[in-house]
Amino acid sequence: MRKGYLRKMPSDPSATAFANPNIAFIKYWGNRDEALRLPVNGSISMNLDGLFTRTTVSFQPSLPFDELIVNGHDVTGPGLERVSAILDLIRGMARIEEQAEVISENNFPSGAGIASSASAFAALALAAGKAAGLELSERELSRLARRGSGSAARSVPAGFVEWRAGTSDEDSFAFSIAPPEHWALADCIAVVSAVHKKTGSTEGHALAGTSPLQAARVEDAPRRLDICRRAILERDFEALASAVELDSDMMHAVMMTSSPALHYWQPASLAVMQTVRQWRGDGIPACYTVDAGANVHVVCPEKEAQEIATRLRGIAGVTDVLTARAGGPAKLLEKNLGD
Ligand code: PMV
Repeated sequence: MRKGYLRKMPSDPSATAFANPNIAFIKYWGNRDEALRLPVNGSISMNLDGLFTRTTVSFQPSLPFDELIVNGHDVTGPGLERVSAILDLIRGMARIEEQAEVISENNFPSGAGIASSASAFAALALAAGKAAGLELSERELSRLARRGSGSAARSVPAGFVEWRAGTSDEDSFAFSIAPPEHWALADCIAVVSAVHKKTGSTEGHALAGTSPLQAARVEDAPRRLDICRRAILERDFEALASAVELDSDMMHAVMMTSSPALHYWQPASLAVMQTVRQWRGDGIPACYTVDAGANVHVVCPEKEAQEIATRLRGIAGVTDVLTARAGGPAKLLEKNLGD
């Protein structure tokens, strides 16, 4: 970029933002465009209150390269490159060249197997945009977050969120379908110790198309999205529960039948799923969903969460249970709001 076209940096080129992770009720699995992270199907999720990533971005003229510190540790290599790619998009939009220091912390244990990429890239997009002096809309922030991690698009808006697959970078973004207070649901995350290293979702998405079941999963996605969206709007737990479990099982069927095959469930994951199905048969409102890992997210009405968490702790192989209710949008920290 020619110097003459560069903008002056804002007077305080730093900002701090935080964002919740989210749990997908209808899953995103597979991209039609890997580089732009345009998904093959839409998805619906709930933000997880109380769990968050907090990220400070400061653009500094003296820095020769971007720097990334996560939970007190320097990150280099592919982790840094993924963050720099988002910073490059922001630098391009703001017409600045300064490199940035990015300091990020998660308040949830990294060993708990909750993907931090959703909250991390949502917080990064918001903090970096603000630090660069841009006024970005929620839609623009969701699109930017999507470029770092698809599910991060859904951690930008509040509460219950839908990400329409879209057809291009411009129209693939997430929006809120209901605020967090719309429905008092909770996610009780049954942490299950995994014995082998899992394949990350970025590699997993690239394998989805190798499964002969993926086409059927994608073809049926609009139907599941309709059922899930309506169940949320009407607060119909039974309808939500069957759509959520079906969608999780369909994604894992695709994972297990891709080449190479991805098997994320552990014996304890299966034990939790079976128990939850049995509880529901006995009239206890709870349903399960599993991401690209062994932990089982048990979704239930908030008033049942304490009892369900206690029962989950009693299942052999469950090492911990974290509980979260529906969370708000990605936010700038107070001191930056008036800038
Ligand atoms: O955003 P990614 O690339 O980490 O993919 C997320 C994939 C799942 O968590 C398995 C499903 C989802 O929609 O969150």
